[in-house]
Amino acid sequence: MTDRLLTFIHISDTHLHTDPTYTGQFTDVVSRPGVDAMIRQINALPFDIDFILHTGDVMTDPLTSDEYALARDVLGQLRWPVYYLSGNHDRAQAIQQVLMNRPPALITPALNYEFDVNGVQVVCLDSSIPDPTTHHGYISPEQLAWADQRFAANDDRPLVVGVHHHPLPLNVPWLDKIVMTNGTDLHRILVKARHRLRGVFYGHIHENVVTVRDGVNYYSALSGWFQTRTWHNQQMAQNEPMHNPGFNVVTLTKQDTFVRFYRVKL
Ligand SMILES: [Fe+2]
Ligand SMILES: [Fe+2]
Repeated sequence: MTDRLLTFIHISDTHLHTDPTYTGQFTDVVSRPGVDAMIRQINALPFDIDFILHTGDVMTDPLTSDEYALARDVLGQLRWPVYYLSGNHDRAQAIQQVLMNRPPALITPALNYEFDVNGVQVVCLDSSIPDPTTHHGYISPEQLAWADQRFAANDDRPLVVGVHHHPLPLNVPWLDKIVMTNGTDLHRILVKARHRLRGVFYGHIHENVVTVRDGVNYYSALSGWFQTRTWHNQQMAQNEPMHNPGFNVVTLTKQDTFVRFYRVKL
């Protein structure tokens, strides 16, 4: 007998690139082999999974929406439905068009949506800014109002929230330059739902960190590409020597939330 409500896999920052040799300026790692290994190992997990939550940076700075065909082909190999968020390196409208098959009339500038699986409410918020030269996040007043309506509602479903950027500073100065600049506004409305909020799941930082504030739990996932290693008050970015991707396995039961941190073998 089990009181399991659902299990989802949290992946993030796959940073696929149409140039298979692309490494960017911060690493010498290319993303595709790690992403392929991660997909194979997720597909081989010996337990039930309900869906995958991808918290953004699906690709790295694609020049056209058509480039998302690569993400569709690669991530489409996952055996479960994938729900996407838009990261600072993404194109929110291309995600809707190519990865979510939304008809043109339903495509919105920002990717905010909710869905329900097994009686669990999942709210996805778009913290990306349509400016490729900046990497911090922001949630507009309209988005906050939309989220607040849901968080303050008289609703007893367990709640999961997904977003790309870290809403709260992590006390890592270089990383906090690319934080969600008004994340404390988001936190303030999340607190209204904390009796049913099981966690806020985010990406962007390429590292596993858990923050607890006012009873709200924030969990990040590793990247599908390369990882960072940070510490309190760290001034300069540093990569983790072992760049293997990772993912989180999140299981909700009626009373508990389990977040397990898995590493991918390369
Ligand atoms: Fe990223
Ligand atoms: Fe990011």
